[in-house]
Amino acid sequence: MCGIVGYIGPKGAVPILLEGLKKLEYRGYDSAGIAVIEDKNLELRKAEGKLKVLDDKLSLEKFKGNIGLGHTRWATHGRPSDENAHPHQDCGGKLALVHNGIIENFQEIKRNLEKEGHTFSSETDTEVVVHLVEKFFSGNLSEAVQKATALLEGSYAIAVINQENPDQIVAYRQDSPLILGIGEGEYYLASDIPALLPYTRRVIILEDGEMVELNRENYRVIGPGGELLNKEIEEIDWDLEMAEKKGFPHYMLKEIHEQPDVMRQLLEKPLRGSEIELPEIDAILKSQEKIEKIFIVACGTAYHSGLIGKALLEKATGIPVEVDMASEFRYRSPLIGENSLVIVVSQSGETADTLAALRHARDKRAKTLGIVNVQGSTIAREADQLLLIEAGLEIAVASTKAYLNMLTAFNLLALKMGDGDIAGNENGELLHLLREIPAQVEKTLLRMEKPVRKAAEYIKNWDNAFFVGRGLDFSLALEGALKLKEISYIHAEAYAAGELKHGTLALIEEGIPVVALLTQESLLEKMISNIQEIRARGGYVFGITQDRFASRVAEEVDFLFKIPNTADIFAPLLGTVPLQLLSYFTADFRDCPIDQPRNLAKSVTVE
Ligand code: M6R
Repeated sequence: MCGIVGYIGPKGAVPILLEGLKKLEYRGYDSAGIAVIEDKNLELRKAEGKLKVLDDKLSLEKFKGNIGLGHTRWATHGRPSDENAHPHQDCGGKLALVHNGIIENFQEIKRNLEKEGHTFSSETDTEVVVHLVEKFFSGNLSEAVQKATALLEGSYAIAVINQENPDQIVAYRQDSPLILGIGEGEYYLASDIPALLPYTRRVIILEDGEMVELNRENYRVIGPGGELLNKEIEEIDWDLEMAEKKGFPHYMLKEIHEQPDVMRQLLEKPLRGSEIELPEIDAILKSQEKIEKIFIVACGTAYHSGLIGKALLEKATGIPVEVDMASEFRYRSPLIGENSLVIVVSQSGETADTLAALRHARDKRAKTLGIVNVQGSTIAREADQLLLIEAGLEIAVASTKAYLNMLTAFNLLALKMGDGDIAGNENGELLHLLREIPAQVEKTLLRMEKPVRKAAEYIKNWDNAFFVGRGLDFSLALEGALKLKEISYIHAEAYAAGELKHGTLALIEEGIPVVALLTQESLLEKMISNIQEIRARGGYVFGITQDRFASRVAEEVDFLFKIPNTADIFAPLLGTVPLQLLSYFTADFRDCPIDQPRNLAKSVTVE
C-alpha cells in the first residue's frame, strides 16, 4: 500500500521520480505527489487520481532540482484528495515527507502536537511524522528522524528532505519495505525493486529499525542502536522486460500468458531427476515425523492456494492441516507449538497480516516455511525455510501466475513429503504427468480464448454470478469468484455445490450464470446432480471439465470448457486458466480498469 521513491544525484529528479512511481503504482493509485528542492525552495505538486493526473500537471513545469521524493497513495486515513496526498509538510514548510504504512498512535501524537501549537492540513496519520521531525530538528535531520520514529507505533517506511540542505535525504524503515538503490554518483530509494531497475541493479534492502542517510558523495546505514552498519550490496538479476506489457493490453493478460514459462522455471530443478529435489525443505523433512500439525496461513488468492495445499498435504503426509486467513489467525489463539509446521504463503512477501502470522508462529517456536514469490521480501527473509515460487514480477493487482505457481509449489511439497504415494498414485507416474502440465497450460490458453470471450459476453450483463464445485474444485471455485469480483465488480459467490440446497438455491433465478467445476472423477456424478438442481431452477451453467469427462458432462451444462486430461490432483492447475480468462474478458467488456481495480492495491502492508 502506497509506494515511495527518492532520488539524489546529478540528474533532474522529477522524471526519475515519476518513472519510479509508475512502477509502484500497483501499490496504490488514488493520488500521487512529488517534492523537489529547487534553488533551496521546496516545490510540492500533488494530485488526486491516478499518476497520469500528476504527470500531466508536471508536464507544464520545468523543474531542474536534483533531489526529491515521490509518493503514490492507497488511502487509509483520510479520503483520496490533493490535501491528503503525500508529501506532507511541517508548519514551517521546510520539510517534506513521504510515508508508506500506518501510524497507529497518530491521534495521541496529533493531540499533543496541537497543544504545542502545530497546525495540520490533512486528515492523514502521516502528517504527525513530519511535525514530529520538525519538533526535534535542530540542525541534524537524522537525529530528528531518530527521535521522531522512537515515538511512533505501527508500520512505516518514511523518507524526508529539508529545503535548507539540498544535499541529503534521510529515510527509515519499520515493518514496511524500503530499498536503497546505488548508482554511479547517485542514490535512489523505493518501496520495491522494479522502481530501481531502470537505473541500477545494486541494492541494499533495509531491515526494521534501520535508517539510511543519503548524501551526494556517500550513504550511511544506521542500525537501531545508532551504530553504523556495513550492509552487503545485493545484485538484482531480474529481467526488466518483465515490467513491460510486451504488447498485451493489460499486465493481467500478459501474466496469464506467462504461466507456462514460469511454471517450467519452477519445476525445472525439482523435476530434473527421477525424484523430486527440494533442498529448501530438507530441514522440514528431517523433522517430519515430529510434526504433529501443519498450519497454512495466507490472504486472498494465496489463502485459496492454501486450501488446495491442505488437501494435497493431508493426503500426502497423513498430518492434519488447518488453513487460516492470516487476518484471523493470531486472534483465534491457534494451538501452535514446537511440533507445528506453519506455512505462510504470499506473492509479495510483505502482506502485513501474513507477516504478523509468521511472527506469531515463530514466537510460539513453531517451524516455519515461506512459500513466497518476491525474493528478499520480509517474509522470505524471516521464515525458517523458504520455497520461492519463481513467478517473476507480478504487476496486475489480480494475482494469476503467482497463484498457479503457489499451487505448483504445494504439489511439489506434497509429492516430496508424501514419499511417493499421494492419492493412491505412484510418484513416478505423477512426476511424469506434472512435467506435462506447463505444455497443457499452454494448450488450455490456446483453446480457451474464443469460448471464454463468448461466455464473458453473457456474464458481463449480470450483477451476480455463482461458482460451484466439490473437493479441490470448491477451493478453485473460491478463487474463480474472487477474480471475477475483484476486476469486473460483479458480485460472485463460491459454494460447495452440495451446500446450495441449504439456502443459496433460493438465489438461483432464470438465466443467472453459474460456473460449475467438474474436474474430479470421484465427485463427477454428485456434481452432475447438483447441476441438475441448478438448471431445474433456471440457472445457466458453464461447466469446466477434463476432456475425458466431456461426453458425460456436455449434455448436463449449457456451455462447456474442456481442459486437457491429467491426474485429478493436478486439475486445478489447468482449471484455473478458464477462470482467469473469464474474469479478464468480462472485466474488459465492462471497461473496468483491469490492472488497477478500484479500492485495491497489490501489496497490502497494513492490517
Ligand atoms: O502478496 P500476497 O500474496 O500476500 O497477497 C495476498 C492478497 O492480498 C492477494 O492474493 C489478493 O487477494 C489478490 N489481489 C487477489 O487477486
